[in-house]
Amino acid sequence: MTVRMNVENQPARPVAHLPDAQIVTEVRHYTDRLFRFRVTRPRSLRFRSGEFVMIGLMGDNGRPLLRAYSIASPSWDEELEFYSIKVPDGPLTSKLQHLKVGDEVILRPKPVGTLVHDALLPGKRLWFFATGTGIAPFASLLRDPETYDNYDRVILTHTCRDAAELAYGAELVASIRSDQMLADLIGAGFADKLIYYPTTTREQSPKMGRVTDKLRDGSIFADLGLPPIDAAHDRAMVCGSMGLNTDMKDILEGFGLREGANSDPAEYVVEKSFVGDGI
Ligand code: FAD
Ligand code: A2P
Repeated sequence: MTVRMNVENQPARPVAHLPDAQIVTEVRHYTDRLFRFRVTRPRSLRFRSGEFVMIGLMGDNGRPLLRAYSIASPSWDEELEFYSIKVPDGPLTSKLQHLKVGDEVILRPKPVGTLVHDALLPGKRLWFFATGTGIAPFASLLRDPETYDNYDRVILTHTCRDAAELAYGAELVASIRSDQMLADLIGAGFADKLIYYPTTTREQSPKMGRVTDKLRDGSIFADLGLPPIDAAHDRAMVCGSMGLNTDMKDILEGFGLREGANSDPAEYVVEKSFVGDGI
């Protein structure tokens, strides 16, 4: 269910009361573990698609309770989108999951992160490897014209436990493919560059299994009709659990890719989508 505030019909920009607060403009629940929300964007906030910020709510002790969140919207969007887990006893998300349109969310306007174009050397194909909420930074990058200007092919892989957890990514890809504004900005046919490879591990779906296994046995390349990853022109960004990130580092380095950073661009970059063992 989506609840949306009609910002155009508001007499003026809503006024927040908490320090650094933004106003929730939309909330959409996907499953009992996942939801998305949008908030107003501070006029002064500049960020690179793929970066994260600290967001949160006022804690019971009167101090802000903040957590890292990838900005899921692109840098040109006038609002900010976030895609969130609901941890049943999580200090922040046990409350955040009850957000309603018009509520306030604290947002520290200091974006940072390694999943940015600047951290990669030029290439021809860009791979986004995500599990769970790790798709959030790629939701930003997939709506950024620079992604399609820089690469001939953009491949999004998303592995989740079950089909319902793929819905956010599936809707995102469908909306990009039919987005007239992006087509006007980037050029007609830009969406032909975008390849989507969703897999599930705990429920039957058209493509079953961990993406790491499909890379190791080469079946992902056969499925997509693409040549294997080659350090000469393939670039990759990885965002998931510690387990995924560690496994993907091994796999990508096996293909000859080197890890990059903002200060030292190379062939792949990695960022945690959360700290801990997961829920
Ligand atoms: P916490 O005390 O923070 O976490 C409790 C436990 O829940 C963790 O130990 C872990 O086992 C599990 N957990 C936490 N987050 C997740 C998750 N996303 N997926 C699966 N299990 C999880 N979370 C998002 O939902 N969306 C994002 O875009 C996002 N971006 C992040 C970016 C970075 C760089 C980092 C480091 C973390 C990010 N997180 C994101 C995780 C987020 O910071 C919080 O951990 C999450 O919101 C839960 O907060 P909490 O206070 O409820 O529980
Ligand atoms: P699996 O079901 O085999 O554990 P979560 O919701 O726990 O964050 O997991 C999201 C998805 O990431 C699940 O489909 C999970 O598969 C998958 N996953 C977890 N660890 C890895 C890993 N090391 N490599 C690839 N996929 C992983």
